[in-house]
This record gives sequence, structure tokens and C-alpha cells, in this order.
Amino acid sequence: MLEKKEKIKTGESPSAKKKGKIIIFILLAIFGLTFIVVAIFMFAMTRDPAHAAMMGSHFSKMRSSFGMTNKSIENEDEVAALFEKSPVELGRRLYASYGCNACHTLDGALSVGPSFLGLFGKNRVFKDGTSAKADEDYMAKSIRYSKDRIVLGYNRSMPSFDYLSDKEVTALTEYIKTIK
Ligand code: HEC
Repeated sequence: MLEKKEKIKTGESPSAKKKGKIIIFILLAIFGLTFIVVAIFMFAMTRDPAHAAMMGSHFSKMRSSFGMTNKSIENEDEVAALFEKSPVELGRRLYASYGCNACHTLDGALSVGPSFLGLFGKNRVFKDGTSAKADEDYMAKSIRYSKDRIVLGYNRSMPSFDYLSDKEVTALTEYIKTIK
């Protein structure tokens, strides 16, 4: 009896090995395909500046949901030092580091959002029919809570930069003032 069982066991082993190999092959194939899909997705995202910027804002939202509100992703000491020296220069830097440049041009060219050229002091008309002058207060609100008022002709695609410090918002505004 025992011998018979042994025989059956050894007789089964080659096909079990085969099955094992097939399973490993399938797992490798799934892993490989997932890797390729993720790689393509990441590549596509980095190619699309608007999307990359949006991802940046998702990151900041994650930060604020962890209770890190009103803290910028920039180094606070560095921001304070640069602000002392030149708010415009700091604004120029933040325009690039927060990805504003992905959606706002400086030369009047159309992009995802309105160009910053000559923006400060202009009269702005919104989707809901209201209007306002682009003063300091307007700039701060547009940067922090962009979705509250949508500029006519555009959609709600600007992320809310509600985590920027007062210094950063002022610096960005001072910089935009110089774009004329
Ligand atoms: C993903 C694209 C995107 C990014 C990134 C972005 N914006 Fe915007 N922004 C828009 C769009 C679209 C509008 C117009 C719709 C609206 O009013 O929200 C807009 C509107 C504005 C306005 C009002 C403009 C006007 O013509 O009245 C200001 C000011 C502004 N953005 C500043 C900024 C600053 C500063 C940054 C970076 C900290 C930034 N934006 C990043 C898309 C973007």
C-alpha cells in the first residue's frame, strides 16, 4: 500500500512542477505588465505640465489634511530672507517653484490660465457675471481660493494654493505687478 502511494506521489510531481512554472510565469507577466503601465503613466504625467502641477497641488492638499496648513513647501527661513532682500525676486522664484508657469505665461500668450502680462490693475470679469479690479486683495484671493471666482472664458482647473504664507502671496503679487 505504502509503495503504491509513493509511486503516485512521484508520478504527480512532474506535472506539479509544470503547474508551478506556469504560475510563476503568469505572475512575472502580470508584474511586468503592471510595471510597463505605471512607467507609461508616470512618463505621460511628467510630460503634461498642467497635470504635473495638479499633482503638486494634490500633494499640498495631502499636507493640509495632515494638519500642515499655512505652511509652504518652501523653506520658511529662506523665504523670509529672500523676502527681506527682494519680494519681486522671491515672487519670480515662487512662480517657477510652485508651477504657476505651467498655466500662466508672462508674454500674453494663451495657456491653461490667463497670462500675467498686464494683469495687475486690470478689470476682471467672472463667469457669474460679476467683476472686480485686480488689486492686492484680488490677487491673494485668486491665488489661495481660485475656485471661488472663475475668470470668464476659463474653467476651474487652477489648484487652490491655500497653504502659501502671507509673504509668499505678497511676493507673487509683487512679481506679477512687474509683468507689464
Ligand atoms: C493647473 C493650472 C494652473 C496653475 C498651476 C496655476 N494657475 Fe492660476 N489660474 C489657472 C486658471 C485656469 C485660471 C482662470 C480660472 C480661475 O479664475 O480660476 C487661473 C487664474 C489665476 C489668477 C486670476 C487671473 C486673472 O486673470 O484674473 C491668478 C492671479 C492666478 N491664477 C495666479 C496663480 C499663481 C500665483 C499660481 C502659482 C502659485 C497659479 N496661478 C497656478 C490655472 C492655473
